[in-house]
Amino acid sequence: MDDTAIRKRVLITGATGYIGRRLTHRLLADGAFDLRLMVRNARKVMVAVADKVEIVEASTFEPESLTAALEGIDTAFYLIHSMAGNEDYHRQDRISADNFRKAAIHAGVKRIIYLGGLGVKESASKHLLSRIETGEVLSSSPDKIQTIWLRAGIIIGSGSASFEILRNLCQKLPIMITPRWVRTMTQAISIEDVLAYMQQSIELEYPGDLMVDIGSERLSFQQMMRQAAEVMGLRRALIPVPVLSPRLSSYWLILFTPVPYKIASALVEGLKSETLLQNDHAARYYPDIEPAPFRESVATAIKELESNQVLSRWCDSSGGTACDIKDFDDPAGAVLRDVRIVEYDQGIQQAAVFQAACALGGPNGWFKYHFLWRLRGILDKLVGGYGLSRGRRNTGQLRLGDAVDFWKVVDLKENKRLLLYAQMKLPGQAWLEFDVQPTQLVQTAHFLPRGLLGRAYWYAVMPFHNFVFSDLANTVVRMSRKPPATQ
Ligand SMILES: NC(=O)c1ccc[n+]([C@@H]2O[C@H](COP(=O)([O-])OP(=O)(O)OC[C@H]3O[C@@H](n4cnc5c(N)ncnc54)[C@H](OP(=O)(O)O)[C@@H]3O)[C@@H](O)[C@H]2O)c1
Repeated sequence: MDDTAIRKRVLITGATGYIGRRLTHRLLADGAFDLRLMVRNARKVMVAVADKVEIVEASTFEPESLTAALEGIDTAFYLIHSMAGNEDYHRQDRISADNFRKAAIHAGVKRIIYLGGLGVKESASKHLLSRIETGEVLSSSPDKIQTIWLRAGIIIGSGSASFEILRNLCQKLPIMITPRWVRTMTQAISIEDVLAYMQQSIELEYPGDLMVDIGSERLSFQQMMRQAAEVMGLRRALIPVPVLSPRLSSYWLILFTPVPYKIASALVEGLKSETLLQNDHAARYYPDIEPAPFRESVATAIKELESNQVLSRWCDSSGGTACDIKDFDDPAGAVLRDVRIVEYDQGIQQAAVFQAACALGGPNGWFKYHFLWRLRGILDKLVGGYGLSRGRRNTGQLRLGDAVDFWKVVDLKENKRLLLYAQMKLPGQAWLEFDVQPTQLVQTAHFLPRGLLGRAYWYAVMPFHNFVFSDLANTVVRMSRKPPATQ
């Protein structure tokens, strides 16, 4: 880059979400821009990233907070949505986009780059319709601010919801009963290619608003399942059945994959009608990007998973109007508690105890009473919760906002404290805290019951707590004694 050129100041909103985290890494690696991240909770940004960018805390539902976020910005990425929030997400997403557009115009921002979904309004699912409306709101003042609106369908990348669905179906089901919607044609794209389009959109020389449909080759979900299975070295039989309603298919998906009903049904609804590129703007204005074929995208995603290099996951964001980290990081209001204290001698390092607590869940499991945790997970799944199937992003390390099975990391103080907030379906709110002190581990399960039912639930599960929680605390300490594995 020409040293005398003025560096563009770029804002990434949704920087703690699936796309935003990866875009941040990509633009940081590029080094050509001055980056500012707009987040709802600065603590969710990893220290290694926070050191290299400017961070502003803001929410699109607090318009006054947007002034500081947008001040001096040339180009702003809009990567926000509140899909999993509540039933009213359509209206919320419109308000969010409207507040953002107005604030961006006021701040003199020149370009908004928005990533939405692929598809047309006429046959759009509820979720896609909301993404289209968001794009329409953002681009509704073309005389005042320019919008580049990228539209992507299924994104293939480690940790993306669609990829997790594909991967889990292929890995868990040797024989798959496939409904009609799996034959609908679509054009998936790799996360790497999405990021390439986003990056080039910053410098793209184009005078007005532009809509750019991005995707790789045309494939049906069925073809994608076959190809993904082949890449994984698996032989899978697909048996088509004429009747399997979208609702039933969604339940089927939540049974075998980690995603909750809302995401599963959004995918199934989205696949009821074709989602193919409606324009050739990607090839015309971004000629040097050649989208990777589907097989290659799957292979790359698998490689990232296998090498424990997953940068972001579909469950990173709070998925709602409330920021789960900010709003749930203090269990002080809980009224019921189960406290376990395990003393340890000087031979055990405080850091090792903390590390053992941070390795819980996912493939590492929950020790001796893992079957009880599994049972709780199955019950949770049955009533629409996450169950244990979300696993974890990284087998050894945690960062604030990570999902660990049905928990969410809401506080993390290096070598001192790990606080998990329960995202399972419960008649109340629950936390699991590991307070690591120089010679003892204090493990506390906090519960804030909702009414009488909440209290009844707590006392009903108390006998199980006796086994589960005492084993957990003891084993965490025992694990810390283990000599480190030799390479
Ligand atoms: N992921 C895909 O497979 C995919 C496919 C096609 C298109 N897209 C599009 O890409 C965009 C980004 O999607 P994503 O998957 O990265 O979403 P995501 O993981 O759910 O992240 C959403 C982000 O928005 C933030 N946010 C939510 N409400 C906010 C508010 N009121 N103010 C400020 N920030 C707010 C969240 O912050 P918290 O962390 O605080 O919750 C989070 O950082 C969306 O427009 C989506 O339609 C995604």
